[in-house]
Amino acid sequence: MTTIIDKLRLDGKKIYITGGAQGLGKSMAQALAEAGADVAIVDIQLEKAQATAAEIAAATGQKVIAVKADVTNPEDVQKMITTVVDKLGGLDVAFNNAGMVINTPAEETTFDQWTKVINLNLNGVFLTSQAAGKYMIEHGGGAIINTASMSAHIVNRPQPQASYNASKAGVIQLSKSLAIEWAKKGVRVNTLSPGYMATDLTQNSEELKPLIDIWNDWAPLGRMGKPEELQGIAVYLASDTSSFATGADFAIDGAFTAW
Ligand SMILES: NC(=O)c1ccc[n+]([C@@H]2O[C@H](COP(=O)([O-])OP(=O)(O)OC[C@H]3O[C@@H](n4cnc5c(N)ncnc54)[C@H](O)[C@@H]3O)[C@@H](O)[C@H]2O)c1
Repeated sequence: MTTIIDKLRLDGKKIYITGGAQGLGKSMAQALAEAGADVAIVDIQLEKAQATAAEIAAATGQKVIAVKADVTNPEDVQKMITTVVDKLGGLDVAFNNAGMVINTPAEETTFDQWTKVINLNLNGVFLTSQAAGKYMIEHGGGAIINTASMSAHIVNRPQPQASYNASKAGVIQLSKSLAIEWAKKGVRVNTLSPGYMATDLTQNSEELKPLIDIWNDWAPLGRMGKPEELQGIAVYLASDTSSFATGADFAIDGAFTAW
């Protein structure tokens, strides 16, 4: 009998994840490889991506490679898809996860700051989704997972981050649009919207400590999420068990957006 646990396995799947060198991307890349996928760690930080790829390969026995790409650069994105397909032997799942935040009051945000955030969080997700989607349409289909945020749904407090919130709302509406356009072309597109997550960078940050205390105070569970608490949804969305899930947003935020 083939059980649901067998169906969740990702054996034979070729997956890339952007922003995979550290933080949430690294944790989800580890889970995808543990479930049997071959994974490309795509990041602008090559050395860190190489170290992460080596660590996950050693821990899982899967093929895990590092690919340097700036996801805001259309040429880099095209080259990245070609490299992933060449080195892994195909592309079944594209996980567009790289993102950044700049906290500034809206009236003081420079156009440069605004553009940086929109460029990485929204234009980067468009470029990678477009290139991966085109490949998948021409090669039998696939699944795209785009990392959005609970900030697509609520306005964070107390830090001002209009550019981030707008970019992540854009990621969800872009992904829904692609899901509809590509529904009959075999490409599923979903978004993952985490709440506040305690990554290595955030949990040890002196600068964020006062904010974290406020966030935890407002969080229904009274705490931030752990990166590993996104691993299950990442494997589900990458697996064929999610075949009826497309155009959906999966909020994994400890009920933060349920207030
Ligand atoms: N950490 C959280 O609390 C949280 C909550 C909700 C959503 N998110 C989203 O999850 C994603 C990952 O967050 P994280 O906390 O792991 O972030 P992080 O800053 O730890 O990691 C981001 C990664 O993206 C890479 N990157 C940056 N610019 C790039 C570019 N131009 N091209 C390719 N790679 C690039 C970085 O080198 C880094 O490895 C982001 O989209 C973020 O907005 C995070």
